Amino acid sequence: MQSTEKLTDPRPNPDESTLVYWTENDQPCQALWQSSHGWSPPKALLCVDETLSADRAYRFISGGTGLVWRGDFQNGKQLLAALKRRIAKQKPPASDIAYPERFHLVRQARSQQARLLGLLLIPLAENFQLTHRRAPSVAAACQAAYLVEGQQALSRAPALLMPLTALIGVVSAYEWQRQGLLVAALGQHIYPRHGVFAPTRHEYLDLLVQTALPTGTKTALDVGTGTGVIAAILAKRGIPKVIATDTQSAALQCAKDNMAHLGFSAQVKVLKADLFVPGQYNLVVCNPPWLPGPTKTALDAAVYDPDSQMLVGFLSQVRTHLTPQGQAWLILSDFAEHLKLRSRQTLLGLIEAGGLKVLARHDIKPRHPKSTKVDDPLADARAQEVTSLWQLTLAEKL
Ligand SMILES: C[S@@+](CC[C@H](N)C(=O)[O-])C[C@H]1O[C@@H](n2cnc3c(N)ncnc32)[C@H](O)[C@@H]1O
Repeated sequence: MQSTEKLTDPRPNPDESTLVYWTENDQPCQALWQSSHGWSPPKALLCVDETLSADRAYRFISGGTGLVWRGDFQNGKQLLAALKRRIAKQKPPASDIAYPERFHLVRQARSQQARLLGLLLIPLAENFQLTHRRAPSVAAACQAAYLVEGQQALSRAPALLMPLTALIGVVSAYEWQRQGLLVAALGQHIYPRHGVFAPTRHEYLDLLVQTALPTGTKTALDVGTGTGVIAAILAKRGIPKVIATDTQSAALQCAKDNMAHLGFSAQVKVLKADLFVPGQYNLVVCNPPWLPGPTKTALDAAVYDPDSQMLVGFLSQVRTHLTPQGQAWLILSDFAEHLKLRSRQTLLGLIEAGGLKVLARHDIKPRHPKSTKVDDPLADARAQEVTSLWQLTLAEKL
């Protein structure tokens, strides 16, 4: 069923509201482009099914053509796996390249591979309906991912064209959202949602539970709350008033839902704010993204901190939000240091410039599976990684 190629909307800076056009059995089709990655739509689209071999599909995507999958849904997933195997044969950046260049090359290669794989596209009819043979129902997952607070009024979702990888990501995020993630430090489940940082690495949460609270702590602020997991642990430790901030609507909704489910809604207020909300607190906690670097997607923003804005913003302003005996707890891995993206001196300089001093540092080794993966070109840096909770206090009374 391979049909003729058709150019998509030729606007120079297309965004997520771009309409894309292709032909199917000589009939014109159109849909809204939805990539979740900030990717532009492909310049050419070709409607395909099982009659296209994986080798030819690979040649098409390597040339930048987007393949609109019209075959059986499960066969589409098999084609995706076949393309993944072909892409995996590309040589990773050599492990003798020095950091930080090796890191930048690895990130660039992974992003190019994801982009290539993202050229296998899946069309969804209105209201997130898949019309392919053996297709699962994805409407609930798409609604959960795309119709967050403020968009609930959208009564009819338009037809979409999106990378199959993005749809699989939406469906797996929905599974996590339904099943939850057991957080040992909390003794309960946290329910992440699409686009929100999920605390799959638990070790930093153990540090949070083990570190003694400042005496008589009555108020705490959790800066960049994500799922709300840190705010929940602070509430569970008995702090009567906790405020949790974030800038992303999906995170704010997710944290609010988690507080309701954990029974902490009265104790924890979730507020939209850039870092801080006015006031002084006995404890201010922040787990910023651990690597400095540019971001494209919401999930990137949980891992990468562009120009270290969050880290610098937190350390330069937190002293004005601490009570005289208050403490700031900064949770940070030293992975960026091993990748030569930031030095220990820079971090210590920021702490000092922020009018803070180090009361104690509590370290823990990561236990996540990636830390032992030998075929990872960053394995040597990962093997040395240590996560720390920096217990900071005012260098001198203000
Ligand atoms: C690494 S995640 C940590 C999430 C959560 N605290 C945890 O430990 O699981 C960082 C969070 O900070 C949020 N964030 C980024 N910049 C922010 C800012 N300027 N103000 C508030 N939150 C921010 C992101 O949306 C993200 O949810």
